Amino acid sequence: MKNLNLLLIFICLSVTVWGAGSTKEINRVQSFNKNWKFTLADSTLNASQVSFDDSKWRSLNLPHDWSIESDFGKDFPASPGGGALPGGLGWYRKTFTVDSKDKNKRIFIDFDGVYRNSEVWINGTSLGKRPYGYSSFQYDLTPYIKFGASNVIAVKADNSKQPNSRWYSGSGIYRNVWLTTTNPVHVDHWGTYVTTPVVTATSAEIAIQTTIKNDDKNLKTVRVEQSLYDAQGKLINKVDGPLYVNTGVAQQYLQRIIVSNPKLWNIENPYLYKLVTRTYVAGRQTDEYATNVGIRSFKFDVKKGFILNGKRVKINGVCNHHDLGALGAAVNTRAIERQLQILKEMGCNGIRTSHNPPAPELLDLCDKMGFIVMDEAFDMWLKQKTSNDYSIDFAEWHVRDLTDMVKRDRNHPSVFIWSIGNEVGEQWGEGASKEMDLQTANVLLNNRKVADTEDVRLGRLGKFALLTKHLVDITKDADPTRPVSAACNGTEDNNPLFKSESMDLIGFNYHENEFEKITERFPKTPFFVTESVSSLQSRGFYLMPSDSVNIWPERWDKPFNNPLQKCSAYDNSRAPWGSTHETTWKLVKKFDHIAGQYIWTGFDYLGEPTPYWWPSRSSFFGIVDLAGFPKDIYYMYQSEWTTKNVLHIYPHWNWNPGQTVDVWAYYNNADEVELYLNGQSLGKRSKVGEDLHVMWRVPYTSGTLKAVSRKAGKEVLTKEIKTAGAAVSIRLSADRPTISSDGDDLSYVTVELLDKDGVASPLADKLVKFSVEGEGSIVGTDNGDQNDHVSLKKHERHLFYGKCLTIIQSNGKTGAIKLKASVDGLPSEEIIIVSK
Ligand code: GAL
Repeated sequence: MKNLNLLLIFICLSVTVWGAGSTKEINRVQSFNKNWKFTLADSTLNASQVSFDDSKWRSLNLPHDWSIESDFGKDFPASPGGGALPGGLGWYRKTFTVDSKDKNKRIFIDFDGVYRNSEVWINGTSLGKRPYGYSSFQYDLTPYIKFGASNVIAVKADNSKQPNSRWYSGSGIYRNVWLTTTNPVHVDHWGTYVTTPVVTATSAEIAIQTTIKNDDKNLKTVRVEQSLYDAQGKLINKVDGPLYVNTGVAQQYLQRIIVSNPKLWNIENPYLYKLVTRTYVAGRQTDEYATNVGIRSFKFDVKKGFILNGKRVKINGVCNHHDLGALGAAVNTRAIERQLQILKEMGCNGIRTSHNPPAPELLDLCDKMGFIVMDEAFDMWLKQKTSNDYSIDFAEWHVRDLTDMVKRDRNHPSVFIWSIGNEVGEQWGEGASKEMDLQTANVLLNNRKVADTEDVRLGRLGKFALLTKHLVDITKDADPTRPVSAACNGTEDNNPLFKSESMDLIGFNYHENEFEKITERFPKTPFFVTESVSSLQSRGFYLMPSDSVNIWPERWDKPFNNPLQKCSAYDNSRAPWGSTHETTWKLVKKFDHIAGQYIWTGFDYLGEPTPYWWPSRSSFFGIVDLAGFPKDIYYMYQSEWTTKNVLHIYPHWNWNPGQTVDVWAYYNNADEVELYLNGQSLGKRSKVGEDLHVMWRVPYTSGTLKAVSRKAGKEVLTKEIKTAGAAVSIRLSADRPTISSDGDDLSYVTVELLDKDGVASPLADKLVKFSVEGEGSIVGTDNGDQNDHVSLKKHERHLFYGKCLTIIQSNGKTGAIKLKASVDGLPSEEIIIVSK
C-alpha cells in the first residue's frame, strides 16, 4: 500500500513536471536565489576572498535591483533618461555547502543576467567577467568546489560608469541564478537545438540536435534517448541511439521524431509539447533535460506579410523595455505574466524585446501565451549612444553575446525574428556620436539622415555593411531557421545595413509615409514595422481641442518646455518622429505587404521621459502606464484587435460647468453609438471610412453620461460615466485575491476613492498609506505618474488621476495577508489576500 502511494505520488509529480512547461532542466537545476549578502561599495573594496567578513552586510534574496530602492533625483548621473536613479558598484556573496555525496558530479552556476560588468569568484578564484548586462552565462564551479564543506561565491556588479543606457537598466543580480548539478556525462549548456523542418496538418518532423558533454576520464558510449510528450504528459513518440563521446569533448548528435496529426502552436492556442532528453551510460541514466517544443511553420512574404501555419497573421505587437515598474529590473515571473495578460487582453500578439536579450521567463511566458517575439541583441554596435555604454565592449564581446542570445533562445516557439540591433549609429557612417550626451542622443537618433557623402567617398559604408553581414552570419550560424533583421530609422537606400543586402526582413522605425511604396524599393525583401507611433500620454489627463495634435517637441532639435509636465491622453500628442496611434494603425491595417508593427511602447518604462526632462523620470509612450493601468488608447486597439464587444467612452465626467468637453468613443461590432447626458440624447455617431473613433463636443453639466452602441438597431453595449462627488470611502481591488505561498507570487491591489454613491473619483490625488500584516509584504507602490519622485518601494503613494497601486508578495508561508490602506479624513479600508 505504501509503495502504491509512493508510486501514485511519483506519477502525479511526473505529470505535473511535464505539464509545468518550464524550459529549465528537470531535477538537475535548483534556484540559487536565496540567502545572499549584499553591500554597495566603492572601487577600492575587494570582497572576492573567502576570508572576507560579510557578516555586517545586508541579507537578501535574488533577483535584486539596488537602483529601484532609491528616491528619484535629478543629479544621479544616469540622468532622467536613465530613470533618475542611482547606479553604483555592488558586491554579493553567498556561502553554501555542497554535499560530499556529489563529489563525482559537475557543478555549474547560471546567471540569467547581471547589470553590469560582472565578475564572479568561487572560493577566491575568478571565474570570469561579463560586461553586457543582458547576457545569460554559466561558469563551471567543479574544479574549485570543496565537497562536504562550505564554499563562497562572490559577485561584483559595476554599474558605476554612467550614463550607459538610454533607459532605466537597474543594477545588480537582477535576474535569477541557478545551480546545476550533473553527472560527468551530461547534456551541455543550452544543449538541445530543436527545430521543425517539416510541418503539415497530418505530420511534423522534429529535428533534435543534442550536445553531450563527457567530463569523465574515458571515452563513453552514450545512449541518447528523446521522448516527446504532449501537453497532458502523454508520451507521443520516442527515439534513441548511441553516441561515442571522447573524454573532455562536447559531441553533437542529430535525431528525428515524427509526430502524426500535430497540434500546431499558434497565437490563439500556443500548444506546447515537451521533449525530454535522457542520456544513459552502461544502462545507467546519467542525465535528463527538458525542452519545450512548439510545432509551427511560418514565412514572411513580400506581398502578403507574415504567414503562420499557412494563414496570414498581422503582427499587432508592442516594444517593451524590461523594467517591471515599481519592482524595477528585478525579475518576477508573475509581474511579467501580468504585463503580458494586460497586453493579450488588448489583442496584442507580439513583443519586441527592445533593445536587448530578455529574461528567459519572458520567453517561456510568450511560448505559453502565444506572442510573436522579435528578440533583439543590441542598442548599439561600435558607435556609442551614451558615454559608457556597450559600444566600449562591442568589439571584444559581440560574437559571444550575440551567439549566446541565439543559442539560449532558439528553442522558443514564440521567437520568430532575430534583431541584430536598434537604430545603430552605423546607419550613418562616422558621425559625431562620441560627443553626444544622452538627451541629444535620444532625439538625434530619431531624425538623422544618411546624408554624409563623405562616408561614401571614403568607403566607410563598406565597412558598416560588412559589419552588418558579419552580425547576420553570426546569428545564422547559431540558427538558420529564423529571419534576421534590424530596426532602422535611417530609411534611405544608402543605409549600410540595407546595402549589405544580408538581412531577411526590412524593418523600419517610424517613417510611416514610406510604408506604402516600400515594395518598390525592396522588391525581394519582406517588410515590417520594427517600431512605430511614439505617441505621448499621461493617463487621465486631457488637452482640448482633442482633434488638434500636439507635436512635442515641435521639431526634434528644438528645446521643449511646458510646465504641465504631462501629455494629453486623447490620441493627440506625439513625438515629431512618430505618429498618433490611429495614423499608423490605419496604414498597417490597410496594406497587406506590411507584416505588422511593434508599437513604441506597450508599457510606460522608467527613463526617457520625452518630451520632458527632469522633473519627469519615466516615459509617456506606453499604451499602459507604469503601474499597469491602461490609458484610453488601449481600448482603440482592443476594439480593432479583438472580436469581443468593446465600447469605451472618455474622458471622465468631472469638469467645470459650462466647459466644452470632447467625448470620444471606441467601439466595435456595432454600427452606431448614441450618447446621452442626463437622459437627453446628444446624437448618434458612426465611424465612416477608416475612422477609428467617434466624437461629440459636449457643453458640460454634471450628472451621467451614457453611451449605447447598437447594431441594426439592437443594443450591443451600454457604458456610463458619472460625476463623482466628495470621496467618503476607499475601494481596494486585488487582481488576484488568492496567490501562491511560494514567496514570489504577487497580488496587485488598486486603490480608488468613492463618493457616497460608489462613484470613483477620477481626479483624486490624496496620499494613501499602506500597512500589511500576516504572511506577505509590500514590494512596491505606484500610480503611473511620470513626475512622482518618491521611491517606488515606499509604503505610501499619492493617487494619480484617481488611482494608485500596491504590490503584495507572499512570504513563503500559507495564511492570510491583511492589507490596510489609510487616507486622511476617510475611514481606513482593509483587504485580505490568501496565500495558499
Ligand atoms: C526610438 C528608439 C527607442 C526610443 C524611441 C522613443 O527611435 O528606438 O529606443 O528612444 O525612439 O521615441
